[in-house]
Amino acid sequence: MNTRRASILREMGLGPIWRTRGAALENAVEQPASLPTPSEVVVEPGRRPSQPQPEQPRRPAEPKPGVSSPIVLAPVNSPTSQPPHDRRLVHIASLDWDALENDIRACTACRLCESRQQAVPGIGDRNGAWMLVGEGPGAEEDRRGEPFVGAAGQLLDDMLGAIGLTRTKNVYIANAVKCRPPLNRTPQPDEIAACLPYLERQIALVRPKLLIALGRPAALSLLGQEIKINAARGRLFRHAGVPVVVTYHPAYLLRNQTDKGRAWEDLCLARSTMTRIAGDSEN
Ligand code: URA
Ligand code: SF4
Repeated sequence: MNTRRASILREMGLGPIWRTRGAALENAVEQPASLPTPSEVVVEPGRRPSQPQPEQPRRPAEPKPGVSSPIVLAPVNSPTSQPPHDRRLVHIASLDWDALENDIRACTACRLCESRQQAVPGIGDRNGAWMLVGEGPGAEEDRRGEPFVGAAGQLLDDMLGAIGLTRTKNVYIANAVKCRPPLNRTPQPDEIAACLPYLERQIALVRPKLLIALGRPAALSLLGQEIKINAARGRLFRHAGVPVVVTYHPAYLLRNQTDKGRAWEDLCLARSTMTRIAGDSEN
């Protein structure tokens, strides 16, 4: 094992798993082309289809006609005739960064506003090629107003470091819900839906090349459907034309260390997808 690979695996706490899993993982590190070929699944965001979407052949990263943002802007020229919900979507879709963050901090669109200390809009490089989406703020994030500053954040930093990234450079980090769910419970689907326009606007402003959904609530938000991580990982989805890789939430990995090897494979998929996209855009 070379020194860099050894340090990557150490960073992710993968030493023991590395030894038991042997050559398969080594190949994944050194030969991204040998990773299982992901099947691409085009999912229209904002929908809640009852059946999983059929798998599609590989396709390049351009937005697919017909796969559009769930924010419907059609009645924009008659604002007074719009229902309040539509007006909210139109309003959020028009905000610049500062206005967006102010709007989030003042938001009362779901019950999570009642128990928060402060909303946590997001952090990082607003032009990042990578965008990570977590679940929602925990206690420390609620206190500090920044995502992933607690124990899960430390592991997230290690995961980013393992693929040569840091949270401040070329990466933007947001959450499916911007306010802390009481007692760190899982955000409910209606809360995720209420907060989705903010995430949509963040994605539209960042224009990432790749999205990573950390855990099931993030995947629900980005894919518009309930998935199981074990079934969704290793596949490429899309949100508004942007490829989405799904992996475990770092807080889950803290409790289930044996799945760190799988998370590492997911990060390899993310990295090889990014390399492919970057190569395509040069041609
Ligand atoms: N877990 C999350 O999903 N997001 C955070 O910001 C912190 C912990
Ligand atoms: Fe608003 Fe999102 Fe906070 Fe709910 S979680 S109050 S929708 S900012």
